[in-house]
Amino acid sequence: MPLRFSLSSLIVLCSFTAILAHNNEDPTIKTMEDFSGYPIHESHSHLSSLSVDAQSLQKQIDELSSFSDTPAPSVTRVLYTEKDVLARRFIKNLMGLSGLSVREDAVGNIFGRWEGSNPELSAVATGSHIDAIPYSGKYDGVVGVLGAIEAINVLTRSGFKPKRSLEVIMFTSEEPTRFGISCLGSRLMAGSETLAEALKTTVDGQNISFLDASQSAGYTKDHNDISSVFLKKGSYSAFVELHIEQGPLLEEEGIPIGIVTAIAAPASIKVEFQGNGGHAGAVLMPNRNDAGLAAAELALAVERHVLESGSIDTVGTVGILELHPGAINSIPSKSHLEIDTRDIDEERRNTVIEKIHQSAISIARKRRVTLSEFKIVNQDPPALSEKSILDAMVASSKELNLTHKLMISRAYHDSLFMARISPMGMIFIPCYKGYSHKPEEYSSTEDISNGVKVLALTLAKLSLQ
Ligand SMILES: *[C@@H]1O[C@H](CO)[C@@H](O)[C@H](O)[C@H]1NC(C)=O
Ligand SMILES: *[C@@H]1O[C@H](CO)[C@@H](O)[C@H](O)[C@H]1NC(C)=O
Ligand SMILES: [Zn+2]
Repeated sequence: MPLRFSLSSLIVLCSFTAILAHNNEDPTIKTMEDFSGYPIHESHSHLSSLSVDAQSLQKQIDELSSFSDTPAPSVTRVLYTEKDVLARRFIKNLMGLSGLSVREDAVGNIFGRWEGSNPELSAVATGSHIDAIPYSGKYDGVVGVLGAIEAINVLTRSGFKPKRSLEVIMFTSEEPTRFGISCLGSRLMAGSETLAEALKTTVDGQNISFLDASQSAGYTKDHNDISSVFLKKGSYSAFVELHIEQGPLLEEEGIPIGIVTAIAAPASIKVEFQGNGGHAGAVLMPNRNDAGLAAAELALAVERHVLESGSIDTVGTVGILELHPGAINSIPSKSHLEIDTRDIDEERRNTVIEKIHQSAISIARKRRVTLSEFKIVNQDPPALSEKSILDAMVASSKELNLTHKLMISRAYHDSLFMARISPMGMIFIPCYKGYSHKPEEYSSTEDISNGVKVLALTLAKLSLQ
């Protein structure tokens, strides 16, 4: 909406750009920054004219939510389905309308680029995902994609000229819904050889191969292409993701902006015990080796080992516990557990995993069952936000007069994997009661606009660094 911008605000913003650029090189101004407590203090009042077209953004969020396989208000958008393909087209179209040049890689990560004045410098990137697990909401991920495109619009309208190129990324399949792999697109971008190899033989629940599914959506049909998705370390000078908090803290405390200092390190484990089973009446207690009770004991051991860490940041969950044959009059002959454990401290989390392993072995021995599987499915390191990006996010919030809170992301995001190849930071906005992954998921237009403003200003600062 260019009409909203008076000539004077444009001039002011152009001079703000000049101040930012200047600030970077001039040591005297640096001293002034330190003195004032936050950089570009002078331009403080001007920055409020960074104006988000909140109505259009909300309309886009609503429209995108209509590409769904379940009825509103729920959203279901699964990788490479017809609705996913339509949603991708919608995103590419918006990127084009914002003047970005669009490209896609072999698995459908989408990139929209605004060329900076110095093409020799690595770009600053931002983005998130738009896939949605069955019966979820319309803000998870979406705010970080549509919001990023709007952040580009905000900067364009303000007359800003990037020095480093700016890129908006829509990542393929952050959710594990179809192929059981979370953050598929960003893991590959970060160069996961293991995943590239696994995808050659990965099938979904309907026995459709990853390669066939991606081909049907217009992407790679050749598994040799998968490694072309890998990016070199240093491809980006910074990556910033805007996301709903998916927790209640910001809303409870009435704080509009969360600045993420670290993303917890997730790990998941599959365990299987096997015993002899038998008739629930005929086999007497001393003669049993009950695989179900071994699983129950291990579940309690998981809780104990997590609590032993002594840190509130260590968590562990047995989210799946299955018994075979699953009949009331049959002693379980097989049990299957899936354990999720996370921490911001990798070593501490690995200690928990080791203790769980030791417990599984000793429980099996004590109960005379076989530990037929103990498989660490993934064991990802945590990611710390980069100091320079934290500084840019904090300074942007202050300049926009938005209070912020430093916080940890306990859920993980594409940023966890981008951190392997780029300095990383994340901006959180409040969401209603912390709800996510259900239709009640909600963030207000105002909170979204605030997030977009902080993102836009952060990108501007990073682009000039
Ligand atoms: C899955 O498909 C492959 C190849 O088409 C086939 O060989 C295999 O038997 C199928 N598996 C199941 C469980 O249907
Ligand atoms: C900044 O925020 C405070 C507290 O919310 C408010 O009282 C003040 O008027 C705001 N100032 C500007 C310039 O927006
Ligand atoms: Zn998400």
